[in-house]
Amino acid sequence: MDKEKQIGLLDTDEDLAEADILLLKNRALNVAAEGITIADMRLPNQPLIYINEGFERLTGYSAKSMVGKNCRFLQGEDTNPATVQEIRDALASGNECTVEILNHTKDGEPFWNRLSLTPVKDSSGEVTHFIGVQSDITKRKNAEEALRKANHQLEMVNRRMTRNLEAAAAIQSSLLPDKKPQSDKLNFSWICQPCDELGGDTFNFFPIDENRFAVYMVDVSGHGVRASLLSVTLSHWFLRLFQDNSEARSILPTDVAEELNQQFQMNMETPQYFTMCYGIIDAKSREFRFVTAGNPPIVVARDDSTIEVLKIEGFPVGIVGTPEYSENVIKLNSNERVFLYTDGLTEAEDKKENPYGIAKLADTILDNENNSLDDCVDSIMKSVNEWDSSRGLEDDVSILAFEITNS
Ligand SMILES: Cc1cc2nc3c(=O)[nH]c(=O)nc-3n(C[C@H](O)[C@H](O)[C@H](O)COP(=O)(O)O)c2cc1C
Repeated sequence: MDKEKQIGLLDTDEDLAEADILLLKNRALNVAAEGITIADMRLPNQPLIYINEGFERLTGYSAKSMVGKNCRFLQGEDTNPATVQEIRDALASGNECTVEILNHTKDGEPFWNRLSLTPVKDSSGEVTHFIGVQSDITKRKNAEEALRKANHQLEMVNRRMTRNLEAAAAIQSSLLPDKKPQSDKLNFSWICQPCDELGGDTFNFFPIDENRFAVYMVDVSGHGVRASLLSVTLSHWFLRLFQDNSEARSILPTDVAEELNQQFQMNMETPQYFTMCYGIIDAKSREFRFVTAGNPPIVVARDDSTIEVLKIEGFPVGIVGTPEYSENVIKLNSNERVFLYTDGLTEAEDKKENPYGIAKLADTILDNENNSLDDCVDSIMKSVNEWDSSRGLEDDVSILAFEITNS
């Protein structure tokens, strides 16, 4: 009786007979949801000598028909031989093991069995029996398999989407300038860093005649696929303006802005607008005539090492029906530099949410005034990436800079 108390039968009636306790234990083994089996390892073929009711419920085999047989009858052709080998090795070495093995019920229904085998040793240390505990884990296995299939499908869809996005990004970047113009009068430099695969920024320049270039910088609201589709449409709009229609070459900056505003009004289907700077650089008259539509201030680096910031009001394109756009003019000396950019540059934030800002942009431009225009533009991009290195860019950043190079 003392022994029973040690293993948890403290409240047992002192008078309870040993036979009653055995009955109680047997009852406990039988109500358990798991299958419980005992095999005698000393007999040939290691037969089962005990099977509980849980095992009967799990497999459909009666204890009567199974006692004296080896439990391998639950396996089938689809059972993994490596798992069977793992059991064999554990039994041979007298070690515990737990495996997940595919078994079949008496009706031939497959089920996943989580089988734990524990050795029982006699006083001399010899393994006399193994206790097996069988749990039906079919639901979990099926759920895992369904999850694996769903993940695989998701991965395929994801790969296809990535491929499509990459193809779209390649089309989009093909609409940015690809090489410097063959001009000894004007020099351009540019950079574009979208924050997603696809961005809403686009810009370019086109020669009008030997002295003049038209230039634009556009930033479509938002980013991602929707913004990029409009930015591609706008790139084509400008491309047509300057490639197909020679008459269009004389279009005034304000006319271009008004025309765009008419054609690209925001509505329910395309709830997007864009900011823009469009202008004509004349290397002969040394003038940049331009119109602004909600874009960030234009920055001019003068040859006396000062920075001019031209903050000009103007409605973004597409927001109001008939906005008034006015033309502005900047006079430029040789090697003075003009910087057009999108607000992703000055609004990039560091980890304390301080924006990069115009002052920092001006400092970086001045720090690079004796470097080439390309180096200057690269340094700006590097400096803004360092500024918000902890957060990563949250908006597209584009810069298009130019200088009149003839003396
Ligand atoms: C107590 C005990 C319970 C077992 N229960 C199962 C079982 O539920 N399902 C199963 O596939 N194998 C079970 N086995 C393993 C097989 O009986 C057998 O040992 C295994 O297939 C490897 O041996 P073999 O190469 O002789 O087939 C059990 C083994 C023992 C000792």
